Amino acid sequence: MVACDEAAVVAIFCTENMIMKDRNIPLYTTRMKVAELIESDYNLLLLFPRFGLELGVGDSTVSELCIRQGVSPQLFVMMCNIYSHTDYMPSADDVRQLDVEQLLGYLSRSHTYYVVSRIKPIEEQLKALSAQCSQAHSAVLQRFFAEYEQEVLNHFSYEENTVFPYIRTLMACHKMQPTYDIETFSHNHSNIDDKLCDLKNILVKHLRGIGMAAQTTELLFQIFSLEEDLSRHTFIEDVVLIPLVQHLEKTVYDN
Ligand SMILES: [Fe+2]
Ligand SMILES: [Fe+2]
Repeated sequence: MVACDEAAVVAIFCTENMIMKDRNIPLYTTRMKVAELIESDYNLLLLFPRFGLELGVGDSTVSELCIRQGVSPQLFVMMCNIYSHTDYMPSADDVRQLDVEQLLGYLSRSHTYYVVSRIKPIEEQLKALSAQCSQAHSAVLQRFFAEYEQEVLNHFSYEENTVFPYIRTLMACHKMQPTYDIETFSHNHSNIDDKLCDLKNILVKHLRGIGMAAQTTELLFQIFSLEEDLSRHTFIEDVVLIPLVQHLEKTVYDN
């Protein structure tokens, strides 16, 4: 950020309704500069590929960059706020105005990202660590992770093959036999981090004397980070996707 005095930052970021959140970062808006958004929370860089957004942003605002690259600025800024402000809750009005297809695209790309760029590297690190453990520890680690990976794959596959196609049919204003609705998804939508917790416990509490402190720490960082990211992903599906589809169902079935 070029000018860092507080008044300048407030002038750039704030709107009349803006609320200061947990880390004292004002909520992001579509009018702020992209470079300043990244500077305020570099973790948001992780969202760029999930939106298919290229860097080389110059002095573009969020709105300018998103429109140039075919992304909904409102959706992008909402995701940024969810990731950076843990107590941020989007308003019902803001959620209803979102582009459903873009939200589904974002969630699908996130699924691919978790599997390819996060879970696979963790699996590789775990294999290297397991090679140095006792057979018993190695077996437990591998089993926990294999079960976790399968659970995540099943979860994503259900969303990709059942929930998202249902939403797309609904978007085409097709009234369907009432065999499925978003309420069913809402009731069954689970957290996918319980087994990660077990894995962390083994690494933190029980794995001794393998002489790989740096690798174990790095692995734990990756697991904590994945867990945090996935909890935001679940939050997005619970507080953005589900209410948006409930609204869509109302629109389709009440007409
Ligand atoms: Fe998902
Ligand atoms: Fe999910």
